[in-house]
Amino acid sequence: MNRHRILQAGRLLPSLEARLAAEFDTTLLADQPEPSAFLAAHGGGFEGFVTSAGVGLTADTLVHLPNLRVVSSFGVGLDRLDLAAARARGIAVGYTPGVLDDCVADLGIALMLDVGRRVSEADRFVRRGGWTTPGAKSFPLARKVSGARLGIVGLGRIGRTIAKRAAGFDMDIRYHSRRPVEGVPWAHEPSLTDLARWCDFLMVITAGGPATKHLVGAEVLEALGPRGFLINVARGSVIDEAALVRALVGKRIAGAGLDVFEDEPNVPRELFELDNVVLLPHIASGTEETRQAMADRVFDNLQAFLLHGRLVSPVPD
Ligand code: NAP
Ligand code: 8YV
Repeated sequence: MNRHRILQAGRLLPSLEARLAAEFDTTLLADQPEPSAFLAAHGGGFEGFVTSAGVGLTADTLVHLPNLRVVSSFGVGLDRLDLAAARARGIAVGYTPGVLDDCVADLGIALMLDVGRRVSEADRFVRRGGWTTPGAKSFPLARKVSGARLGIVGLGRIGRTIAKRAAGFDMDIRYHSRRPVEGVPWAHEPSLTDLARWCDFLMVITAGGPATKHLVGAEVLEALGPRGFLINVARGSVIDEAALVRALVGKRIAGAGLDVFEDEPNVPRELFELDNVVLLPHIASGTEETRQAMADRVFDNLQAFLLHGRLVSPVPD
């Protein structure tokens, strides 16, 4: 039996790689000594392409995949997938929305609690003997999170999940997006700057890509002010990182919890020195349970398309 030929862009969960290899004739592009030369010579043989939100798929790569019918991406972010180029060719694109909402929301809340209550900073204090040093200054007071004001930038699937959790902390919640969301109890704030001025914690969970590039810039950070914290679990591109570094170094905002950066895996060195900043290596969806659910959806999208001509989770038009 002829098995469908699938090109896999980069490494994936071992369980997903094993499942793909058992079902399809799979080739790992990243394993080829000269990936570009391999694509140019053999790209015509592939019907399917498996990638991730981080690796994506460019129009240049698509040129070398003339017989491609389906793309299946591990992740929900679409900012690295050239959807226009895929659409122009009638290529179906699937992704993994919904299955990671809980874990990304959990991590957003974890970062908010961490920077608000100085959790990581206190851990460092204990480890370096600050607690047991005779005559040393006691650990500084933190800020109360329960009942505080939370501004959410992007009330999509994950933003709503964060809001539900924050409601459990009796937080006063408002949100900013281009359009108000119907049927939610939280107030829509058309001006992001006004939302930043109002809130204690500004939680960024909007989509990435050109439309949101540097949405949070110097003016929004100034409005957030020296008592306001910034949390970013969306994409590094949504924040003007140079302006954020300036605001943090100049103490013009209270602190930041960051899971994502403009030039991953590179994090501005200035931030390493700051105790009021928590830095994570893009791990918001990184639990065994959620990554397995994402892997299952990647497989199911591919299989459903190749067997029945339709994806389980197509990207929106
Ligand atoms: P979603 O349901 O599509 O929600 C996206 C939200 O962004 C919507 O509320 C949308 O509202 C808003 N938005 C889009 N463009 C905007 C703009 N120009 N200004 C203001 N708001 C805008 O997506 P989701 O599933 O919640 O995921 C959100 C993002 O989280 C993903 O795109 C991804 O980049 C990121 N993410 C990160 C991690 C991580 O590991 N850190 C994991 C998963 C996802 P309007 O269209 O009304 O503006
Ligand atoms: C992924 C993410 O783990 O889903 C997304 O958009 O950012 C993360 O969940 C990561 O991008 C995989 O490459």
